[in-house]
Amino acid sequence: MRIGILTSGGDAPGLNAVIRGAVLKGDKLHGQQFVGFRNGWKGLVESDIVPLGRHEVKGIAKQGGTILGTSRTNPFEGNGGPDRIREILAENEIDSLIAIGGEGTLAAARRLTDEGLPIVGVPKTIDNDISATDYTFGFDTAVQIATDAMDRLRTTGDAHGRCMIAEVMGRHVGWIAMHSGMAAGAHAILIPEQRTTMEQITEWVTSAHDRGRSPLVVVAEGFILDGTNDPHSERGLDAFGRPRLGGIGETLAPAIEAATGIETRATTLGHIQRGGTPTSYDRVLATRLGMAVLDLAMQKQWGCMVALRGTEIVQVPFADALGKLKTVPQERYDEAAVLFG
Ligand code: F6P
Repeated sequence: MRIGILTSGGDAPGLNAVIRGAVLKGDKLHGQQFVGFRNGWKGLVESDIVPLGRHEVKGIAKQGGTILGTSRTNPFEGNGGPDRIREILAENEIDSLIAIGGEGTLAAARRLTDEGLPIVGVPKTIDNDISATDYTFGFDTAVQIATDAMDRLRTTGDAHGRCMIAEVMGRHVGWIAMHSGMAAGAHAILIPEQRTTMEQITEWVTSAHDRGRSPLVVVAEGFILDGTNDPHSERGLDAFGRPRLGGIGETLAPAIEAATGIETRATTLGHIQRGGTPTSYDRVLATRLGMAVLDLAMQKQWGCMVALRGTEIVQVPFADALGKLKTVPQERYDEAAVLFG
């Protein structure tokens, strides 16, 4: 048996640990051979293959990014499609494919398995928005990076008596904002799931300032201010035709300053949250998922992926992870909001 591995969509710290976990377990227990496809589905459709043995995965669990490269390519577009992919797999004597990716990747993998292709998956996103898994690797690292940044913003904010806005990633969900904001003691957390009025934000900022604090406002890139229709976007569309987000913090800063009279500065953390060394939590989770997806492939459980439930790694069909995002529940937001202001 020869297994192909690809990483697709936005990168997340821990991708390399997944690859290493699968390759080492497969090599050690089953004498399994592996190859990598470069740059996601693109490499599969173009038959862009690299060797992937013990040597290639040596010491990579601590490396951010992905040794295979990634892209936001749709395998059904251009020269792609199930017949072409079946041909490439046969030509290269590959019996199964491990696809590591987010919602878009898993949806494509599901369509391809419906066409009879032998694919298993590993869910990935720093946003932590995939249903059917409690956490995705990369999320913990992103939260740690954001928290560190906010701790720094607070000291400079305190020095000047300013209101500081930290904008974090989170296209549809506010998990990074909720966790990093709570960890950093934010005075307001603004997330895509909760439309919030300018009056409410002003009240929280003013109340913190009146107590002698320098307010910290955390905002997820996908936040929609009450009274507006869409998240802030001024950077065109991505490869899937979705608006590129980012910049809501810079928009809120003058509005908060005008409403409160408190000098306000915004920082957009952007891709810094996706870069660098994964935390030990993410390395362990990713390694376990990599080892477990190898089992899925050996058992020929096509159309399934591995997921975290509590502390256990379980097997679930792609369908369970798709269609509905894992949003921040109302009670989690209400719990955090008690400490706002
Ligand atoms: O899905 C993960 C994510 O980091 C989102 O939070 C963000 O909107 C998007 O990817 C950015 O994508 P890109 O790296 O293509 O700019």
